[in-house]
Amino acid sequence: MGIVIKTAEDIEGMRLAGRLAAEVLDFIAPHIKPGVSTGELDRLCHDYMLETQGTVPAPLNYAPPGYRPYPKSICTSVNHQVCHGIPGERVLKNGDIVNIDVTVIKNGFHGDNSRMYFVGEPSIAARRLCEVTFECMWLGIAQIRPGAALGDVGYAIQTHAEKHGYSVVREFCGHGIGRKFHEEPQVLHYGRPGTLDRLVEGMTFTVEPMINAGRREIKELADGWTIVTKDHSLSAQWEHTVLVTARGYEILTQSAGTPPPPAIVSRPAPALAPA
Ligand code: MF3
Ligand code: CO
Ligand code: CO
Repeated sequence: MGIVIKTAEDIEGMRLAGRLAAEVLDFIAPHIKPGVSTGELDRLCHDYMLETQGTVPAPLNYAPPGYRPYPKSICTSVNHQVCHGIPGERVLKNGDIVNIDVTVIKNGFHGDNSRMYFVGEPSIAARRLCEVTFECMWLGIAQIRPGAALGDVGYAIQTHAEKHGYSVVREFCGHGIGRKFHEEPQVLHYGRPGTLDRLVEGMTFTVEPMINAGRREIKELADGWTIVTKDHSLSAQWEHTVLVTARGYEILTQSAGTPPPPAIVSRPAPALAPA
């Protein structure tokens, strides 16, 4: 199929899906506190998507080749869980860090994003990992413009993570997104400048680095979905869906509660800071 270049009409659809995906993360934030179960967070998001937004949770029953159908509507990945944590009975406790990953479908278009949340008061190490991972995502996004290479994105992320003594998960990557949840290209979170596909105006894809405090190796749990660090070190992830524009990029998963870019990013989105 190749990389789909979105039309002006597609882009309007992607903006709406992206904003709604971000608004689910805004909605769930006040519910994330000690004593709540991940299953309860899933139920709240599921009901909000269907009843308040009129969106469809893309993960529910999602079954890519080699996977059993995903049984819930969001992913909740706690502490050493890297990604694809399945919500359930687990009760969050003070000091946990949790990634909530939300993908909605609206009018056939997907919006995909995730954020890290602190449950009560995190350790200094956990807070730092979440901050640096947020910076990694943004340093990758800041590379995006027509003519840039996907390797530039991966290199920016990897360099920042490793500078802090962290490692980049290799087995999962960002992805093209549109009418399909996962489409071309693959957006690696490591790499070399100038390598891989060149970006073209109208591409839409995610940037979603998974960064481990320890070693990069991972393993899959017996549930067929949950990915954890082999060494049980903490892992963090942030995700935005972005559009390549003539001047750079536009964040599609933008809502009132979206955290602003970190100070380290010197090329903020043109919409936020006109040149
Ligand atoms: N939202 C994830 C991503 O960023 C994919 C989750 S697939 C699921 O690509 F089935 F686990 F939900
Ligand atoms: Co994604
Ligand atoms: Co996601």
